[in-house]
Amino acid sequence: MTLTFTVLEKPDVNILADILDIEREAFGDGALNEYVVVPLMRYGKIYAAVDEEGTAVACAYFMADINNPDNAYLMSVAVLPDFRGQNVGTALLEYALDGLKEYGISKVTLTVDPSNFTALSVYREKLGFTVIDSVRDEYGEGEDRLVMAKEI
Ligand SMILES: CC(C)(COP(=O)(O)OP(=O)(O)OC[C@H]1O[C@@H](n2cnc3c(N)ncnc32)[C@H](O)[C@@H]1OP(=O)(O)O)[C@@H](O)C(=O)NCCC(=O)NCCS
Repeated sequence: MTLTFTVLEKPDVNILADILDIEREAFGDGALNEYVVVPLMRYGKIYAAVDEEGTAVACAYFMADINNPDNAYLMSVAVLPDFRGQNVGTALLEYALDGLKEYGISKVTLTVDPSNFTALSVYREKLGFTVIDSVRDEYGEGEDRLVMAKEI
């Protein structure tokens, strides 16, 4: 299966449905909905891996950081379960980090659940992000997060 990496420039009904599917598969009740995904598409950047039929199988969302205009925040990355463990998430993020440079971005930050070992492996081991902070109760009691960053 050949996947193509792309930036989603504007909302499209089919691609939006794909993105919402990927979200639900990855995050269940915590999935982003269309009211977040569409603004991210229009005003942030969403990168996707698309199969030969044009179906998105992975996506990564970035928002601009108003406080630090050279920084972009990786809100989320998710790969459909059937495509995980095949380097798709890493390759999509490599594509996205490279693409963000054309918008003047020189640094990417993110937060990650310290027990999400797959995501940590992708960010730290495979992409070279480093842990710059650790925040307790970031999303509510017991919802701790590691803050990571990488110069691009
Ligand atoms: C996190 C996610 C995006 C990674 O995408 P992916 O395409 O599966 O990742 P890759 O195949 O590029 O790399 C996964 C790496 O994690 C490693 N890994 C998997 N499970 C692991 C574990 N329990 N402990 C340590 N490393 C682990 C794999 O070995 C692989 O590294 P390798 O290629 O060196 O063997 C994907 O698993 C996903 O969608 N998860 C659900 C959503 C999520 O948690 N998103 C991130 C938080 S916002």
